[in-house]
Amino acid sequence: MVLSIKIKFAERVGRLPPYIFAEIEQLKVEKKKQGVDLITLGIGDPDLKTPDLILNELVEQVKVPENQNYPTSMGEEFFREAVARWYKVRFGLDLNLANEVTNVLGGKEGVANIARAFINPGDIVLCPNPGYPVYANGATKLCDGNPHIMPLKKENNFLPDLEAISTKILKKAKMMYLNYPNNPTGATAPIEYLKKVVDYADDYNFFIVYDNPYSEFTFNDYIAPSLLQVNRDHIEINSSSKMFNMTGFRCGWAVGNSEIIEGLRKIKSQIDSGCPVFIQKAVAKGLNEYSSEKKPDIVAKTMKIYEERRNILVRGLNDIGWRTEKPQATFYIWTQIPKGEENSMEFVKKLINVGVVLTPGIGFGEHGEGFVRFALTQSIERIQEALNRIESVIK
Ligand SMILES: Cc1ncc(COP(=O)(O)O)c(C=O)c1O
Repeated sequence: MVLSIKIKFAERVGRLPPYIFAEIEQLKVEKKKQGVDLITLGIGDPDLKTPDLILNELVEQVKVPENQNYPTSMGEEFFREAVARWYKVRFGLDLNLANEVTNVLGGKEGVANIARAFINPGDIVLCPNPGYPVYANGATKLCDGNPHIMPLKKENNFLPDLEAISTKILKKAKMMYLNYPNNPTGATAPIEYLKKVVDYADDYNFFIVYDNPYSEFTFNDYIAPSLLQVNRDHIEINSSSKMFNMTGFRCGWAVGNSEIIEGLRKIKSQIDSGCPVFIQKAVAKGLNEYSSEKKPDIVAKTMKIYEERRNILVRGLNDIGWRTEKPQATFYIWTQIPKGEENSMEFVKKLINVGVVLTPGIGFGEHGEGFVRFALTQSIERIQEALNRIESVIK
């Protein structure tokens, strides 16, 4: 049947960048067909399981009839209470659960929908690059805003160079996305730096969306801060995804300035009906395991595993002549492609030929070119096997 109506995407959809991973996906399918055993270190999705304590709570709570009804999109009171309590014991902050805490369907949803509440066509949003693509695309461009790229350069410890942003742009900026511990670079932000950004925000009248999903993904003695410890005029988004290996459950929270939270709530109440109550119960159970800034067992166990994997991968890469530094946080290793390699995409394709899948830096924006990202989502044995295969390519 021939369609008589002409269907056209909205112009804002046309502003989204092309899907650069299509070629990689195709290559993976071909390799699989040829029987190549793929070691996937590309996607940031934990291979470790959700802690039993949380799963047991979920199974109990899903059976309770009143937990099977519509939730509220702002999150149930017990959930907001658990989030507020977590902020108290983890960061020493007092939050009002009536207007400073709200539920999100995973951090991604919060990061994207916050822009709907505040960005008018043409508004400038400051976005790190390389960075989580949702800041510039799903949030800014889909609200007809203009992302202004803040390059994250190695020589600046992967922190935006604030002095490099023109006064004209700063004056026009309405919002800034910031994410430390950082995906993809693994970088962390010193408190002095956060103080400086907050001063800029104050001077130029924009607010910061501090995306903090890796707050618990830290090594050794490093404890990641909340931006709200520095200043409470902004908002922070976090989720159970990485903290409790719960990427599939879609439950997170946004906290901070009550006017910004109100904007997010207004948008969400017209779009979604909230996170299932039994999932909120399970996440609250996990959050309530915290009694100080120290990671409770259910988180510490996970981090021990990632730490061992990080050490083995970084040591292994250096041993085969690929200079790579250890990150202090996140489960990502961000490293420059070996000398002589053409670009991150071509290098990743070469590695797929031997069954190792990484993410090319260009996938996180143009300033990610020349780098690749490893996610520590495979066992030590598989990481060791990946190292052998990588050695065969780069030697
Ligand atoms: C920087 C960053 N922000 C937000 C998210 C979204 O996580 P979720 O929606 O699972 O909470 C991710 C996930 O990988 C991320 O890396």
